[in-house]
Amino acid sequence: MGKFNPFSFFKTGKKTSNFDPAPVSPEHSISVQKGKKTFTQGGESTYALRSVDFQAEIGELVMIVGPSGSGKTTLLSVIAGTLRCDEGSVTVLGRRLDNLSSNQITDFRRQNIGFIFQQFHLIPTLTCAENVSIPLLLQGWKSKPALEKAKEGLEAVGLGSKINQFPKKLSGGQQQRVAIARALVHDPELIICDEPTSALDSETGIKVMDLISAQAKKRTVIIVTHDNRIYKYADRIVELEDGQIISSTGKTHV
Ligand SMILES: Nc1ncnc2c1ncn2[C@@H]1O[C@H](COP(=O)(O)OP(=O)(O)O)[C@@H](O)[C@H]1O
Ligand SMILES: [Mg+2]
Repeated sequence: MGKFNPFSFFKTGKKTSNFDPAPVSPEHSISVQKGKKTFTQGGESTYALRSVDFQAEIGELVMIVGPSGSGKTTLLSVIAGTLRCDEGSVTVLGRRLDNLSSNQITDFRRQNIGFIFQQFHLIPTLTCAENVSIPLLLQGWKSKPALEKAKEGLEAVGLGSKINQFPKKLSGGQQQRVAIARALVHDPELIICDEPTSALDSETGIKVMDLISAQAKKRTVIIVTHDNRIYKYADRIVELEDGQIISSTGKTHV
């Protein structure tokens, strides 16, 4: 229920070849305005997002924190375009997602967003290089150049020797580095992370955060986390409670 679905990233959609996903000089990299989302089940309504205003800038690393059930995954899903708000506007990289069709959002996501999840979500029957090449294949790349690019990506995260290995042969930290390479291979402007360090020990979590935070210089990085060991990497920490933002603190103010 309400879980951020990692595989919506792989969702198939009809190609909308005329769609130009290029951003149009956004004021903010991300802006959710008066975002509302209610889930109704068995006649009962849950106000997952009450009226949320959330912004993030290019180059900013924003962490979204808060107790279980406070709406973190819902907010992340709305920004990723895997869930639509009932009311309010969602602008990501200059695009109003609420004005796009589902196929356009799928295309937009494939072009512009990289995902990193707590449980890595690597495909066990594919080698590391094949896993990393997936975002490129979804964009229509041929497999040979996609694999070449994937290998470069794995080298960049220090896993050049694991190119032809299967994920289960790797440690958790190494698997997350493969997932980071996969999230970056198509050079997305937005990186979305759901609890990226929660399955890792402290030292490995720090290494993973070093890699992720290095990406925030030219992209926007949004991380949902419970892990206070990594708060120091945030430019800003946004706290949710009961479907509302109750604080936004840090080095940057939006
Ligand atoms: N698909 C859904 N159907 C019904 N209720 C949902 C669904 N998704 C989320 N919720 C409810 O919305 C609230 C916020 O959920 P969520 O965004 O997953 O919180 P968090 O990620 O902070 O734990 C919770 O009360 C949750 O039970
Ligand atoms: Mg959640």
